Amino acid sequence: MKFIILTLFPEMVMAGLTESILGRAMEKGIIDIKAVNIRDYTKDKHKKVDDYPYGGGAGMVMQAQPIFDAYNDVIKDLKGTTRVVYLTPWGHTFDQKMAVEYASADNVILLCGHYEGVDERVLEEIVTDFVSIGDFVLTGGELPAMVMVDAISRMVPGVLTNEESGETESFHNYLLEYPQYSRPEEWNGRKVPEILLSGHHKNIEKWRLEESIERTKKFRPDLYEKYIQSERK
Ligand code: ADE
Repeated sequence: MKFIILTLFPEMVMAGLTESILGRAMEKGIIDIKAVNIRDYTKDKHKKVDDYPYGGGAGMVMQAQPIFDAYNDVIKDLKGTTRVVYLTPWGHTFDQKMAVEYASADNVILLCGHYEGVDERVLEEIVTDFVSIGDFVLTGGELPAMVMVDAISRMVPGVLTNEESGETESFHNYLLEYPQYSRPEEWNGRKVPEILLSGHHKNIEKWRLEESIERTKKFRPDLYEKYIQSERK
């Protein structure tokens, strides 16, 4: 699977995505992540990529030409299905279900905006999906793009090892993760719950499910409702 990030800050994006699990997956050739500098495509002699908004108002708008040319250059080499995502606070809110869905595409292109936005005409021309990572405003689309690449990548077969597998964790079956403990058995006067030391796998499983349910009820009543409804079916 291939990720191409169209950005004014390629180093920032690559620095955050080439360590740890994603770095390992790139080395193995399971995923490919490339950041393309939009500025390399400007035809402006001062390398400018933005200009004042028509109609007035604060800030600058990223111009269509460099983005469109960068896009056309990167799609030349792509095979298979391609989603083109524009990261914006007014997009559809990203969630685990979308991460799974995107993981089945061959290519995902992520367009990172800056300043007050991007000329609408280039969005109309190239973008297939408008995505937000939550109801807050960031200074640019780079962090949201990194969030998406991380969440999508770990759903690509082979990226996680068996032990790291996403099966038993938060949002699977609408439940949040149960509490985890490691050595030592007692730390700072706090003991590991007795049941986890029992070796009784059935009881441990039952305890973990109960803890997951309690946690979901407390922290995410909205998810808990979905869990109850899914259990009724
Ligand atoms: N750009 C700025 N804020 C954003 C957000 N919350 N999600 C996606 N892109 C953004």
